[in-house]
Amino acid sequence: MQSDLFETMLEVIAVEYEAESDPQGPHTAQTLMVTPSPVALDSLPPCAFDADIRALLATSNHPVARAVLAAQTRLPWGSNPVEDLTEDSIAAMITVATLMGPNGPIPAPDVRLGLVYMRPDSYYPLHLHDADETYVIVAGQALWTAGEDVRMRRAGELIHHPSLMPHAFRTGPEGFLAIWRWSGDINTHSYAFIEDLGSALSA
Ligand SMILES: [Fe+2]
Repeated sequence: MQSDLFETMLEVIAVEYEAESDPQGPHTAQTLMVTPSPVALDSLPPCAFDADIRALLATSNHPVARAVLAAQTRLPWGSNPVEDLTEDSIAAMITVATLMGPNGPIPAPDVRLGLVYMRPDSYYPLHLHDADETYVIVAGQALWTAGEDVRMRRAGELIHHPSLMPHAFRTGPEGFLAIWRWSGDINTHSYAFIEDLGSALSA
């Protein structure tokens, strides 16, 4: 039953990416659905943000939000592939559950995909990376910077960052939860912050 909930979550995530105009979207969906699921889906201890994540997801009617909430005890929160490249103060405002990539748990050589939760009233500064990236917000909202495009983004919105486009997120009282996908050159070493972290965090 529990693994069914995980499979259902993967299916509804795949539906979101099937609809993406970028060809990497359907490729992502296909990879999600044809690749064997993680060998073990043991229940995991709740992450530090568990109660906040559940409360936020409960506010959303998005199908992915409902599916993530149902599978919450099986999600590997705290598996950010670029955690080593972020300052502690920044790492403390988000948590990532990596679902697919070269290091698993669902193996994929050329795609990374996962969930990200960002806490309320926080600012994640401008950063960039070689990978192309597509987010779909499934709960909450944020003031989203994608290159020159700065606007509120809400549940149901899909946001694409081409390779090396700077992006940043500012949350209000809700925070947000999104799915994210990297494609193209998915190396982690190019991940870099491009604004002064001290001034950004005090802004
Ligand atoms: Fe990014």
